[in-house]
Amino acid sequence: TRSPRLVIVSARAPFVRTPNGIVRAPGGLISALLPLMRRSRGTWIAAGADRDACEASELPFRVRALSLPSETRAAWYAGASNGALWPLSHGFVEVCRFRAEQARAYFEVCRAAAEVAAEHAPPGAVVWIHDYQLALVPALLRARRPDLTIGFFWHIPWPVAENLRVLPWASELVEGLLGADLVGLHVPRYVRAFRDTLDELGVAHVNEEEGIVVPRGARHARIEAWPIGIDVEGWASLGRDETVAAEAAHITSELGGGRVLLSVDRMDYAKGIVERLEAFERLLEQSSEVRERVTLVQIGVPSRETVAAYRDLRQRIEATVGRIQGRFGGPRRKPVHLFARTLDAHELAAYYLAADAAIVTPKRDGMNLVAFEYIATRPRPNGRLLLSMTAGAADVLPEAHLVNPYDEEGLGSAIGHVALAPETASDSTRMAALKARVSRLSVETWASGFLARLEQVTQEHAPAQ
Ligand code: UDP
Ligand code: G6P
Repeated sequence: TRSPRLVIVSARAPFVRTPNGIVRAPGGLISALLPLMRRSRGTWIAAGADRDACEASELPFRVRALSLPSETRAAWYAGASNGALWPLSHGFVEVCRFRAEQARAYFEVCRAAAEVAAEHAPPGAVVWIHDYQLALVPALLRARRPDLTIGFFWHIPWPVAENLRVLPWASELVEGLLGADLVGLHVPRYVRAFRDTLDELGVAHVNEEEGIVVPRGARHARIEAWPIGIDVEGWASLGRDETVAAEAAHITSELGGGRVLLSVDRMDYAKGIVERLEAFERLLEQSSEVRERVTLVQIGVPSRETVAAYRDLRQRIEATVGRIQGRFGGPRRKPVHLFARTLDAHELAAYYLAADAAIVTPKRDGMNLVAFEYIATRPRPNGRLLLSMTAGAADVLPEAHLVNPYDEEGLGSAIGHVALAPETASDSTRMAALKARVSRLSVETWASGFLARLEQVTQEHAPAQ
C-alpha cells in the first residue's frame, strides 16, 4: 500500500473541528483509511471536508477539500445520503425521504468530486472511492479519465432489492458504481443482495465463485466481498500499555467494582441503542443481582445532528438513560453511564479493558469495528462479545455470542447471560478463536488485498493491444 499514486475519495476528511477542539472524524471508515493513508502518502480528496482541521493536524499526505455551497452540501449529506441512502440500506424504509432537489445535490457533489479527482490523479493512478455518499463518482470519473484504475468500497449493508427499487434513482446509483473496475462489499451476503439488485434492474451479469462480473463495453466491473479489519497491532499495543491498564483499573473501581458492560456507537437508530437500554431496564426490573452488580457504559458519539431522525434519537437515548437512573439509581449507584462525546483511542482502549463484556447489538450494521477493537485490545482471551446476528461482523466472528436484536426477550436474556454467568473455559476458547480471526482481518491486509485485486482484475480485462 506504499503507493504515492493512490488517490482516496471519501465524504469525510480524517479530522473535524468540534466545540471540544479538533478530533478524528467519527465512524469506521476513517478508522480504516487513516492508518492506510499515513503509510501510503497519496492524496485524499474529501468532499465534505473541514480543510482547516486537516491542515492543523499535520498529516503526511495531501487533503483536497471541495468547496460546496452550504445548501448543496446539506441536501447531499443530510438529505440524499443520510435521509435516504443510509436508512434504505439499513432496512429503515419508513425513515427515508426522497426529494428531487436532494437527488440533484447528490449528483452535483459526485460530479464535483469526480472533477477534482480527475484533475489531481496522476496518469494511470489508482483511485479508490468510498461509501454511499459518493456512489456516482466511479462512472463520472471514468468518463473523464479512462486511463485510471478505479476501485469502490461500499461500507454499509447493500440494500435488499425490494427496498432499493423504491429509490427513484436506483438505476443511476447502480450504473454509477459499475463505473468501477472492482466494487467491494463487506460480506458475501451483501454481494448476493447486489446480485438480486442486478436481476431486479435487468442488468446482465455473470456469477463467479468469488463474486459477480458485469460486462461494461470493453471492460468489466466486478463485485466482491472484502471484509474490512482494524489496526490490530495498534489496538493490541494500547491494550498492553501500562497507563491504559491503570486507567482501566481506575474505571473499574470508580464504577464500584461490579461487572461492567460496554457499548460504543455513534448515536444512530441503526445501532439499536434505545432497544438495548430498554432491554437492560427490564433486566434491572427483574434481577436484584443486576441492580446491585452490573453497570452499562454507553459511549454515544453525537452523529448527523442536522438530520431530524438523529436529533430525535439523541433525545430518546438521553430520556431513557434519565428514566433508568431515576428508577434504579442512587447517590452511589448509577446503572447506566452515557458519554455523549468522542473518546480518543487511549480512553476507548481503557474502557475495552475494563469491560467484562462488549454489547454490540445494532439492528443493522455494515460490519462494526467496535466488536473487533474490543477483541484486539484485550491482552488475554477473556471477556465476552455479545453481537447482533444482523451486523456484518457476525458473518466473520461466528464465535461471538450472537443475538437477534429484534427479539426483546432474547436480547434481555443474552445481556443477562454475558453480564452475570461465571466465565468458563468455553468463554476463553471462544475469545481465543475471535482473537485469531481479528488478527487475520487487519486493515492492512484488507487494503493491500483489495488494491492488489483491483490491479489484477483491471489488467485481466484490459483490451488487447
Ligand atoms: N470511535 C472513536 N471514539 C469514540 C467512539 C468510537 O474513535 O468515542 C471509533 C471506534 O474506535 C471505531 C469507530 O469509531 O473505529 C466506529 O466504527 P464502527 O464500524 O463500529 O461504526 P460506524 O460508526 O462506522 O457505523
Ligand atoms: C459510517 C459510514 C461512513 C461515515 C461514518 C460516520 O461508518 O460508513 O461513511 O463517515 O459512518 O458518519 P458521518 O456522517 O459522521 O460521516
